[in-house]
Amino acid sequence: MAEPIKVLVTGAAGQIAYSLLFSIAKGDVFGKDQPIILVLLDIPPMMPVLDGVVMELQDCALPLLTDVILTNQEDVAFRDLDIAILVGSMPRKEGMERKDLLKANGRIFKSQGEALDKYAKKSVKVLVVGNPANTNCLIAVKYAPSIPKENFSCLTRLDHNRARSQVAIRCHVPATDVKNVIIWGNHSSTQYPDVHHCVVNMSGNKVACFDAVKDEEWLKGEFITTVQKRGAAVIKARKLSSAMSAAKAICDHLRDIWNGTPENDFISMGVYSSGNPYGVPDDLIYSFPVKIKDKTWKIVDGLAINEFSRSKMDETAKELVEEKEMALAFLTA
Ligand code: NAI
Repeated sequence: MAEPIKVLVTGAAGQIAYSLLFSIAKGDVFGKDQPIILVLLDIPPMMPVLDGVVMELQDCALPLLTDVILTNQEDVAFRDLDIAILVGSMPRKEGMERKDLLKANGRIFKSQGEALDKYAKKSVKVLVVGNPANTNCLIAVKYAPSIPKENFSCLTRLDHNRARSQVAIRCHVPATDVKNVIIWGNHSSTQYPDVHHCVVNMSGNKVACFDAVKDEEWLKGEFITTVQKRGAAVIKARKLSSAMSAAKAICDHLRDIWNGTPENDFISMGVYSSGNPYGVPDDLIYSFPVKIKDKTWKIVDGLAINEFSRSKMDETAKELVEEKEMALAFLTA
């Protein structure tokens, strides 16, 4: 048996964590022969709820779960981590504006960035889920200067999966037969779900998405807005934000970081922009198409970008620049 890896989940008493912890602890992400120590962080009022989560984890009688550490202290939570999944954040409340959310959550991710810097292994892989995910991730990067920027990413895999599924439903094929959709930019309603490089397996033939769907108007209109607004549609229907699908996307994202992506496939994730091939401004966490090998991501190079895509990629970059400026202004005020 391998040495156990230490995996932190913040916001561990929340609804995403409730869907996520079982999959991680049973070996769906890091493999069936990889023992795991789970570290669960939440805020003090949520400790009784966390007690219940720990009881349930124990009651699952999982062979890979070596230990569960439950805490509300960052110096305990971030120590010697291999993986940090940062889900916990302040939810948007009624009447709260984007800048209020940025201010509240900026503080959390500054403090957690500092804790990563101080206590985690330098090889730690950090996934930011809590919203606004891209900007929270950028803040964590900035306050953890001793950890390589490449070790950080934010979740846009849920948007990626949503886009994949919308095309699959339209083509009457399983979602696994739809490959290489791209989510560009921010995990917000300005994100750009792009299918110009997407391929659909139609009865054994690889067909370009536009030829498979045969409805350009839908692909350039309703498809994009459906994916962009899917989170809001789920909240409207469920009165709670996406949790089961978010947990599944977190597992997909981390499994690919751990094991790599298949040879000809790429996936979407928010990563640090620095001299990227698509003219996206530097120093943002922007969602790109990436391939992963040896636990290292690389932006897929050489994809043709038409005018339609360019303007949408720029629009979402502009929003990220504004978010960054606002968040950093709050933190340095
Ligand atoms: P939730 O409200 O059920 O749980 C959040 C948990 O975080 C709560 O238990 C809360 O006490 C905890 N928390 C708050 N501040 C904390 C801190 N400083 N340290 C540790 N824990 C803290 O929310 P849910 O549904 O689990 O969602 C969590 C976050 O994920 C939200 O920000 C949501 O918007 C975001 N999200 C992101 C998605 C993505 O694709 N990037 C998809 C779905 C949700």
